[in-house]
Amino acid sequence: MYRPILIAALAALAAAPIFAQSNAEQVYKNITALKGTPADQLIPAMQFISASLGVECSACHVQGNPAADDKPMKKTARSMIEMTLALNKDHFGGRLQVSCNTCHNGHEHPNAIPPVLESDAPMKKEAPAARPSGPQPTADDVLQKYLAAVGGADALKKTTTRIEKGVILAGGMESPIELYLKAPNKRISISKMGNSDSMTAFDGTKGWMGSTGRPAREMSEAESAAAGLDAQFALALSLKELYPQLRRGRPDTVNGVECEVLQGTAPGKPLVRLYFDKQSGLLVRMQRYADTPVGRTPTQIDYADYRDSDGAKIPYRWTLSRPNGRFTIQIKEVQNNAPVDDAKFSKP
Ligand code: HEC
Ligand code: HEC
Repeated sequence: MYRPILIAALAALAAAPIFAQSNAEQVYKNITALKGTPADQLIPAMQFISASLGVECSACHVQGNPAADDKPMKKTARSMIEMTLALNKDHFGGRLQVSCNTCHNGHEHPNAIPPVLESDAPMKKEAPAARPSGPQPTADDVLQKYLAAVGGADALKKTTTRIEKGVILAGGMESPIELYLKAPNKRISISKMGNSDSMTAFDGTKGWMGSTGRPAREMSEAESAAAGLDAQFALALSLKELYPQLRRGRPDTVNGVECEVLQGTAPGKPLVRLYFDKQSGLLVRMQRYADTPVGRTPTQIDYADYRDSDGAKIPYRWTLSRPNGRFTIQIKEVQNNAPVDDAKFSKP
């Protein structure tokens, strides 16, 4: 049920040439609550709503006609959107503090009632987090350690192109994938499913997606900004430039590994949170967030299996997770400094 509506919605997008600069009400037929929202945030907002309520598109939409108001859930959702926007405007100075997920938390029906005690055992009090002792590293220390851990600037600069071959694992299926990378920030991944290739690319300025037999489409601004981050050939070299305001956050653990955490915001870039293994200094997790008018959608990438590649350390495995999907890429072969033509990254 998810697919037909999404496809109908994407077909509407393809038919809208002024999509990038338009508001949702100019591109779609029946927008009231989300008037003024950039058109390219409408579908991400819908995906955010589906994930927050734990429902499919079809809970609110009749098949093939997302503009129709036939389903009562859609009407309730519209009033909920108005309520959520008003809460943020009237009580949080217009900042996006309350989202659908704040109350719904993955459920159609939020739980208003706290639970009763289940046993006689005394109530558990959470131990206050131990105050760190001794001098704490600065954001720059964490970055320096990361740069050293991946081989240092000189080693990183020796490689300017990289071809990676491996497999992508998603939903219990495994298919071959190839990635072409070129410094400082060009990238294309080509995954092969049956006779069809599916491509995700960043040409150094903009991102695009395509698959065999279908016209390629330009990414939205938010998607493009995220793809630009993934395309960084040597993130350890460019992080400071991309996010001049990186700040150290509260340390945290990732899969039991203690990590330093850095947070960054910059105009036109997604909000990011980066987790570095305290011992090795390596980047083990990146979380980034894409704004929609009703909440922020997270993407998490976990990096693993770091191996030496001509003096640089690169992850051979990473897992990308979103509220509505997840895949793992395992690299098996890497070739450095083979010639890769710029045309490889251009949208056809
Ligand atoms: C909980 C209810 C709900 C769910 C789930 C939901 N939507 Fe919506 N959708 C709405 C509401 C409400 C609007 C109208 C918003 C407004 O009035 O500004 C809307 C509008 C739309 C529109 C604009 C239609 C037009 O032409 O006016 C599209 C396209 C759309 N949704 C697609 C989707 C897709 C794709 C999904 C699944 C990923 C989805 N929706 C999930 C409630 C929902
Ligand atoms: C401040 C808390 C809060 C926020 C924020 C919130 N909701 Fe709700 N929502 C509720 C409550 C409470 C109900 C009624 C619960 C019930 O029916 O059991 C509800 C009910 C709904 C229903 C009807 C469910 C049904 O099965 O009839 C929909 C659809 C819905 N919300 C969508 C949304 C969307 C979309 C957003 C974000 C734009 C949102 N809500 C934000 C509290 C909230």
